[in-house]
Amino acid sequence: MFGRTLPIAGREAEKTVDPSLDLEAEIGRLKKERRAVVLAHYYQDGEIQDVADFIGDSLQLAQAAKKTDAEVICFAGVHFMAETAKILNPDKTVVVPDLSAGCSLADGCPEAKFVAWKARYPGAVVVSYINCSAAVKAESDYIVTSSNAEKIVAQIPAGKTVLFAPDKNLGAYLAKKLGREMVLWQGSCIVHETFSERKLIALKERHPKAKILAHPECEDAILRMADYVGSTTGILNYAAKSDAKEHIVVTEPGILHQMQKAAPDKTFIAAPPEANCACNECPHMKKNSLEKLYLALRDLEPRLEMQPDLMVKARTPIDRMLALS
Ligand code: 13P
Ligand code: SF4
Repeated sequence: MFGRTLPIAGREAEKTVDPSLDLEAEIGRLKKERRAVVLAHYYQDGEIQDVADFIGDSLQLAQAAKKTDAEVICFAGVHFMAETAKILNPDKTVVVPDLSAGCSLADGCPEAKFVAWKARYPGAVVVSYINCSAAVKAESDYIVTSSNAEKIVAQIPAGKTVLFAPDKNLGAYLAKKLGREMVLWQGSCIVHETFSERKLIALKERHPKAKILAHPECEDAILRMADYVGSTTGILNYAAKSDAKEHIVVTEPGILHQMQKAAPDKTFIAAPPEANCACNECPHMKKNSLEKLYLALRDLEPRLEMQPDLMVKARTPIDRMLALS
């Protein structure tokens, strides 16, 4: 029997999956056997979302990771999300389908540069978007996600200088919304910066009644056109409740899977990128597959391992966020 060959990050050996396997059934069996829970982000492929025990935005996934009594967490998302789950569960086994699934925001904010940047503003309050490495989290006062950033930043005393990293678009959106100046790290998401204002205007002309729903990682020109700006869960909830029949969705199109399930009578249109490419799909999120998820549960690897002292340091600003959410 010829299986699909999957190179596993950091290992010489290649694993094969028997194509005749009923992967959904096998994953169900392994979940019970391993006492494992599968957490998935909305940007995962539909087939991964369908085997997950919990699907959510970054905040909900962190909350679910904190609550679970499973022995194994299999995290179908990207590296910083699995790291957060491990920090909240240092004694549990955290496995991921693909250890190399990163994030352009996290990658664009290396620890040494972040520490040097922070040192230029003594006494400032450091707020970091959850899309960053554990090392950056450990150097931050607060962690925020797109669903609680406004609430958390609003609680910082007015006289304090606020540093916000690593997403300049979310930072600029918050600064505008709260009428508060912040010092912004100049990072961005490779997916959300690809959306085109020109193509969005053309799409809206063709669908004048459609509501535009955008993630705050998008650039200001896009956000100014949006009827709703929020996290993936916020976008999903808005679409389910809105009276509109058509919605233009300006975020990674993986979210359409749950939108269509929540509101099958409505039409959801994925906003196009500027180039003729599929670059509105997150290449990191899409590294995961059902086969790799099955292998992660079967072999309990690749495993997320972290330095205990780093987990302790990074946990404080995450706990502050969870307490304020
Ligand atoms: P959410 O927290 O809104 O799900 O966003 C995660 C993310 O990576 C967006 O690009
Ligand atoms: Fe990171 Fe952007 Fe992918 Fe989200 S969509 S995981 S911010 S690269």
